[in-house]
Amino acid sequence: MVSATAFGKINLHLGVGLRQDDGYHELATVFQSVSVSDTVSLIQQDIPGELVTSMHTTSHVRGDVPDDPTNLAWRAVEVVAEDYQRLHGMRELPSVSIEVYKRIPIAGGMAGGSADAAAALVVANHWLAGVYGVEALSRDELMRIGATLGADVPFCVYGHTALGVGRGDELTAMMSRGTYQWALIFPQGGLSTPRVFQKFDELGIQPSLSTDAVAAALMTGSPRDLAPVLHNDLQAAALSLRPDLRTILTVGEQAGALRGIVSGSGPTCAFLCDGDAPDVIAEVTTAVPGTTGLTVEGPAGAAALN
Ligand code: C5P
Repeated sequence: MVSATAFGKINLHLGVGLRQDDGYHELATVFQSVSVSDTVSLIQQDIPGELVTSMHTTSHVRGDVPDDPTNLAWRAVEVVAEDYQRLHGMRELPSVSIEVYKRIPIAGGMAGGSADAAAALVVANHWLAGVYGVEALSRDELMRIGATLGADVPFCVYGHTALGVGRGDELTAMMSRGTYQWALIFPQGGLSTPRVFQKFDELGIQPSLSTDAVAAALMTGSPRDLAPVLHNDLQAAALSLRPDLRTILTVGEQAGALRGIVSGSGPTCAFLCDGDAPDVIAEVTTAVPGTTGLTVEGPAGAAALN
């Protein structure tokens, strides 16, 4: 069995520009990976036939993911295999089953599905390099393949802190000093990312496309500098679809968080804290029934073999 782990993300700045003809929006975003991760394992099977025989998910979060070929992790294994076949020739490959261990919320705005794809890309790359007896694909190659699976997949491969433009998949490393403590609050239910982007279009929100303030704050390493400049253009759309998030943000900030924002397309709420994340989680989960919480730190790292 071979395994790889990839981390979830928070957008410290999420600027959403115009909708393009392909339905995607131009983004100017700052990603920070955070210390909540999913693990994907491949178990070689003796059954000849299909490349992926089955998938099984062990989940520590609410909600369901499909254990079938529509799952991004399953597709990731297939697209890496296609790349090896293109580069190194067609051949009969051993089959594998996939095990996913989930801790990143499902449909939560933290790139959980994309992290599973990223971990699957890394583990499939390692496995196939061994099967073929060739050098593994580079990280850049995996990011290029990952972009065909979803806009957040390249960042989940890359990790750390990065500026994302285009669909959010064209990345540049960003300097970041120190570590930041976050209290994550997971409300019940998920939010559909396309639905949140559609709501954003309907609301006609003026975008904030400059990431300069966040870039400057990350250089000081102080959460007190970062807190006031956190920004999410999708927040108003997420709040319009889920008015209950407003209460969560208010309670968390009253409980001592420096600042609360909706993470990505939501509904996860991320509270930047200065040491008191457990207290913030205790107060919010008591005040708002049905919520759960987790203390994490960012930046975490790249997707990597275990
Ligand atoms: O790429 P991914 O499948 O994660 O994106 C999910 C959906 O989010 C897209 O189908 C699109 O509706 C929306 N999206 C967008 N602009 C982006 C990224 C995602 O409109 N840059």
